[in-house]
Amino acid sequence: MAKEQSGSPKARQPVFQRMRITLTIGVIGLCVASYILGAWRGTSTTSIHPSIIYTKSQCGESILRTSSNSSGRSSSDVRLDFQAHHQVSFNESSLVAEKFPPCQLKYSEYTPCQDPRRARKFPKTMMQYRERHCPRKEELFRCLIPAPPKYKNPFKWPQCRDFAWYDNIPHRELSIEKAVQNWIQVEGKRFRFPGGGTMFPHGADAYIDDINALISLTDGNIRTALDTGCGVASWGAYLIKRNIITMSFAPRDSHEAQVQFALERGVPAMIGVISTERIPYPARSFDMAHCSRCLIPWNKFDGIYLIEVDRVLRPGGYWILSGPPIHWKKYFKGWERTEEDLKQEQDEIEDLAKRLCWKKVVEKDDLAIWQKPINHIECVNSRKIYETPQICKSNDVDSAWYKKMETCISPLPDVNSEDEVAGGALEKWPKRAFAVPPRISRGSVSGLSTEKFQEDNKALLMTPLVLSMRGDSLEPTKTGVRLSQLIRGHMTSSMLIKYSAFIRTEGMRWKSQIMDHESGPFNPEKILVAVKTYWTGQPTQKQ
Ligand SMILES: C[S@@+](CC[C@H](N)C(=O)[O-])C[C@H]1O[C@@H](n2cnc3c(N)ncnc32)[C@H](O)[C@@H]1O
Repeated sequence: MAKEQSGSPKARQPVFQRMRITLTIGVIGLCVASYILGAWRGTSTTSIHPSIIYTKSQCGESILRTSSNSSGRSSSDVRLDFQAHHQVSFNESSLVAEKFPPCQLKYSEYTPCQDPRRARKFPKTMMQYRERHCPRKEELFRCLIPAPPKYKNPFKWPQCRDFAWYDNIPHRELSIEKAVQNWIQVEGKRFRFPGGGTMFPHGADAYIDDINALISLTDGNIRTALDTGCGVASWGAYLIKRNIITMSFAPRDSHEAQVQFALERGVPAMIGVISTERIPYPARSFDMAHCSRCLIPWNKFDGIYLIEVDRVLRPGGYWILSGPPIHWKKYFKGWERTEEDLKQEQDEIEDLAKRLCWKKVVEKDDLAIWQKPINHIECVNSRKIYETPQICKSNDVDSAWYKKMETCISPLPDVNSEDEVAGGALEKWPKRAFAVPPRISRGSVSGLSTEKFQEDNKALLMTPLVLSMRGDSLEPTKTGVRLSQLIRGHMTSSMLIKYSAFIRTEGMRWKSQIMDHESGPFNPEKILVAVKTYWTGQPTQKQ
């Protein structure tokens, strides 16, 4: 029988086992030793070597560099720094929401820059008192404007075009004063808007049909419109279904703010007046401007108001006028004006339009329509014939916020031929929504390139944000970041700004949530969604 060799597998087993145990104990020992050593060094207060200096770069990253007397030191002397260096220090107290109390009920319609008491201090000439006059810092309210006591959620679109709750805008005056013109009627607890206006008592729809018979409103050339002196904005309200979006404006006048009714109906509108300052839009913004008995003295003040309309009309844009002085032969008695007076007003408007180089497209019944030229080649030449208005020397045509109007024509971009549209032709609607506007592709808007525009356009179309307008039902989403999570994490400065906004909204009785960017949770750019909650003023509240 063969003897078992000591080198046989069975005989080697105990030796191997012993070696494995020794090795395992050794490895564990080493791990424990290095952990203890690491922990001890981590808590050491003398760990920063004087030769190592951390500097903060602009973007907040730490850059490691050695000081001048550190030459010859080996790299093992340099300690790696694992601390976060992009923390932002903030005042803990700033993270507590300031709770704003409700303002007195009498302020439920308070509009800071349109306070009639302040307005009275300004001159009436050119309706300057109706322009924006904002409170000084010390006059600002630090309370929340309450909704009227019985405020209800407005009707949904499209019913809200025709109905609004009386309790939301409790003013009957217009329903009495404009009863014949069918602006607004009170029906029980609701207002009904039959779509009437000063020049369209049978409804805006029929009036728009009349315009459409003269210039096409459906071929996609006209998408943006401006209604000066809009009343309750029925003209704009009825253009929506024809794919034309209108900015309507009128001042806060004796019948409260007519614009308030427009906004309650879900129709875009602004409190505003043509007075001494530019309309707050850049040059070439609108395809069509409209005035139906808007009471703006177009022929006065060296034509400044029509010159301003010219600035905001795009090349080839239309101006529509109805009401005085148009069709004066029919209406002069009803308007309580003399024939001579009205004829003179019309002659002056016709003359001004010619000097602005506009072409009279048509005048039929109650409507007159002019068109702005597509470029200024002829207009520049015609300045030899017309002394005024001259073309403005300054090219600052787009700035419009608190900028005084001028009595010169805003220059259009240069062209190479008579049939070229100044600044580039716009696409027809709906293609226009996705096309890069020529003023961006031509680089005339600083800081906005074609690529940036396309990126923003895409992001806008992709953002799957669903907002509840009721204010009491913001659903938490899968990607929603909880407030506590945000506090626990280290904040970057941009996060802190957003967080401050978040805190502010909480103090205003809004429900807020910070959500991830559509590109995912790792994008540091976040989206703040805030929804105003439902609450109203108390009628018993001490005034
Ligand atoms: C008689 S209403 C006509 C309203 C509407 N266009 C219609 O046809 O029913 C006159 C409107 O023009 C507004 N208005 C008067 N002067 C104005 C001005 N300088 N700028 C803007 N709107 C003005 C008034 O506030 C009012 O809304």
